[in-house]
Amino acid sequence: MTEDNKQDAPAVPEAAIKPQKPKPRLKTDDELEKVADRARQQRRKFVSRSMTGFFVLVLLAFMRFFFPRTLFEPKTKFKIGPPGDYDFGVDTRWQSKHRIWVIRNAEGLAVLLAKCTHLGCTPDWKEQENKFKCPCHGSGYTPEGVNFEGPAPRPLDRCHVELDPEGQIVVNSIQLYRWEHRYDPGAILKV
Ligand code: FES
Repeated sequence: MTEDNKQDAPAVPEAAIKPQKPKPRLKTDDELEKVADRARQQRRKFVSRSMTGFFVLVLLAFMRFFFPRTLFEPKTKFKIGPPGDYDFGVDTRWQSKHRIWVIRNAEGLAVLLAKCTHLGCTPDWKEQENKFKCPCHGSGYTPEGVNFEGPAPRPLDRCHVELDPEGQIVVNSIQLYRWEHRYDPGAILKV
């Protein structure tokens, strides 16, 4: 190329020239030591937090022994007021609290346990249909608790009932009478 040609070559614009990245400076011993210190502190923090978490878990597990898994069952012996509180028919007011129904007819007053004799579900009282109906497998019971449809093998059980000195009905829901014992003393109140 001749001297003339060199002068004719177009000049490269300054903006097109990329700035060179400065080369990373090598760290001094002091700086390296600081980085290592920071890493050590973070490691120590992590270990101490893990240990604290672990001890808290152990402590909680230990404390758990002082709070046994007790199931607070409803009372099985309770009062439900005087017989005068109950009209003829089926009374469901205690179903959710004590799982019983009070039935009253010409024979007297009895308390049925609201527990299906098939597999133990709680039947519903169907006022319109004048029957108890189990929602689980469809067993049906008369207002006296006699099974007449579905897989229930026998009538509903009756709870022990007696009057206390104040004339209150006392129910014992774990002392039960089967249908064939429905006239036993304790299975019915002649009121
Ligand atoms: S539990 Fe009531 S019918 Fe099965």
